[in-house]
Amino acid sequence: MNDQVVNIRGLHKHFRSAGEDVPVFENFSLSLNAGESLAVMGPSGSGKSTLLNVLSGLEPWSSGSIELFGKEMSPRDDARWASLRRSAIATVFQEANLMPALTLAENLRLRAELAGRESPDVTDWLEKLGLEGLDRRFPDQVSGGQRQRAALAMAFAMVPELILADEPTGSLDRKTAERVADAMFRFQRRNGCPLILATHDPDLAERCGRTLTLNSHG
Ligand SMILES: Nc1ncnc2c1ncn2[C@@H]1O[C@H](COP(=O)(O)OP(=O)(O)OP(=O)(O)O)[C@@H](O)[C@H]1O
Ligand SMILES: [Mg+2]
Repeated sequence: MNDQVVNIRGLHKHFRSAGEDVPVFENFSLSLNAGESLAVMGPSGSGKSTLLNVLSGLEPWSSGSIELFGKEMSPRDDARWASLRRSAIATVFQEANLMPALTLAENLRLRAELAGRESPDVTDWLEKLGLEGLDRRFPDQVSGGQRQRAALAMAFAMVPELILADEPTGSLDRKTAERVADAMFRFQRRNGCPLILATHDPDLAERCGRTLTLNSHG
């Protein structure tokens, strides 16, 4: 059985911006096995978010090969990417992917249902992330940091096979950030769920099994 979750070989990713070619990855390779946690660090603009976007099928790449869960991916296979995002890959991005018309509790339940999981213990998940009492609030009735934590709770409720988190503690105070990191690593260990997180926080990176530092593109 292949326990390689991510296998990137010779990735090239360029953006075109104002008629210019902006190279972000040139011949980039990375592999991640089941149960591993990887911190992606590097200066602003080095490509951390781009890497997570590529791995969630939200950003096409120029050339190179990407295998997820042992299967070769194509940047054009929208149906397969959508299916992975529904049931296997949880993304926790700054622009939290919450449905605005649903309360936090309803968002969690919907996420689990779409992934074919059991209905989650919403109160418990929200409490673990310091969001007790907010279950009936709508996303626009909570703060940015609270929305981000609700997005993480949704990722847990989905019981994914891979979590991609973009600065999951970026907008949080130290104490809340630690609580969130505790919940994240506890979930990761308990479920053996591999985790890739982009962060500027060396303390958070230190808690990951591996760290990858991307270079700036000057
Ligand atoms: N849609 C886009 N069009 C053109 N260039 C882009 C686009 N998105 C990102 N870039 C460029 O790609 C590079 C990598 O951006 P990315 O957002 O991945 O950086 P990052 O490491 O996540 O930075 P930060 O720490 O600030 O979040 C930057 O030079 C950025 O300007
Ligand atoms: Mg970023």
